[in-house]
Amino acid sequence: MELPRVVFFGRSGSDALQFFDLDLADWRGARILDCPGGPGSLVATARRNGVEAVAVDPLYALPSPEIEQRCLEDLDLSLERIAQSDALRADIDLAAYRRSKLIALEEFLADRLAHPESYLTASLPNLPFGAGSFDLVVCGHLLFSYAPLADGGLFPTVEPLLTQLPPRWAGQLTTTAYDQGFEGATPLLLLERGGPDRT
Ligand SMILES: C[S@@+](CC[C@H](N)C(=O)[O-])C[C@H]1O[C@@H](n2cnc3c(N)ncnc32)[C@H](O)[C@@H]1O
Repeated sequence: MELPRVVFFGRSGSDALQFFDLDLADWRGARILDCPGGPGSLVATARRNGVEAVAVDPLYALPSPEIEQRCLEDLDLSLERIAQSDALRADIDLAAYRRSKLIALEEFLADRLAHPESYLTASLPNLPFGAGSFDLVVCGHLLFSYAPLADGGLFPTVEPLLTQLPPRWAGQLTTTAYDQGFEGATPLLLLERGGPDRT
């Protein structure tokens, strides 16, 4: 699927947990960064489950009515392109998919209104956090998206980079059980820093 720009697209907290293969019970007392957060409800879901999470996205600079409008436009654009994709499976219900995105947008807008401090405007690669600020960072549909599905949805350069990680870092490419509705598995890149000081 080809998209003309990075779309402002989010997912529900429960979808995000499945997407990243996470159980929030394992992260109580930890701090999570979701970058890019998009119009998604992972932060709201984490909060409801007693886990502290922060989302970052450049479009959080926009006021809520513009955020909503941009999300709705990009949802329509994405759905149009998804519907045309040869990789889309016939059993996928795109109307239900759209509804789930609208619910995520609604939860996101309500949570941002109630907890604006949890939604920061910033852009990779320059984030306003010191080393060791988070125990877990999740990044969905940005760094390695927008690559041909024929390449596994990841830029072919990613795998060789795993041999050049800094000391104490380990990485692996795996797959997630999350069903995006396309033929083939959804790749997941896991990077972990070991050792006594996990910063
Ligand atoms: C397709 S959405 C992904 C949202 C969410 N992570 C998910 O998987 O549903 C891509 C997001 O990346 C954001 N974005 C674009 N450039 C960025 C950058 N340099 N740093 C951080 N986020 C960026 C966009 O505003 C958009 O919200």
